[in-house]
Amino acid sequence: MSDSVVTSTLSVNGEERVIAHPVHHTLLEVLREGLDLTGTKHGCELGECGTCTVLIDGRPVLSCLELAAECEGHAIETVEGMMVGNELHPLQETFADLGAAQCGYCTPGILMAAKGLLAENPAPTREQVVEALAGNLCRCTGYHKILEGVEWAAARMRGDHEFRPPRTAIHGTPLPGEEGGDA
Ligand code: FES
Ligand code: FES
Repeated sequence: MSDSVVTSTLSVNGEERVIAHPVHHTLLEVLREGLDLTGTKHGCELGECGTCTVLIDGRPVLSCLELAAECEGHAIETVEGMMVGNELHPLQETFADLGAAQCGYCTPGILMAAKGLLAENPAPTREQVVEALAGNLCRCTGYHKILEGVEWAAARMRGDHEFRPPRTAIHGTPLPGEEGGDA
């Protein structure tokens, strides 16, 4: 493997970043090690876990499989770019509200994949959300709250403030005697 160093000019979260890096380094390596954008997580490096997902020109891409030098001229977006000022993105809000992140290692990749989906399809069905996140593995949440978080964020982004995820998604299974619980 060559050790030669190249200089790439990358557009990351709307900022132009000039970075020297070994020519064979992936976008994942350059984001984390060269630009200190450690929100993008380093998982399998094999294209199998999805935790390294970023958006390139609005489309979800596995940054462990992209050479950084080949990303010049494209708009790269990482999880650090999701907040606007002090405002969380609706996906970040609903994930926090629902407890859709536990260890959180998978979360940045899932947020980016979901953001890419909602940009193309503001009202996805459950099946479309599942399909969009099929490449993102989570070892903690069991996925239900993630899927509900994406659906709730989609509703908020459409201006549908009546939408609520199922009561059990927020409060858990009702206890006997509680509303909706066994008598
Ligand atoms: S680190 Fe990229 S898919 Fe796992
Ligand atoms: S929250 Fe731990 S891997 Fe998804």
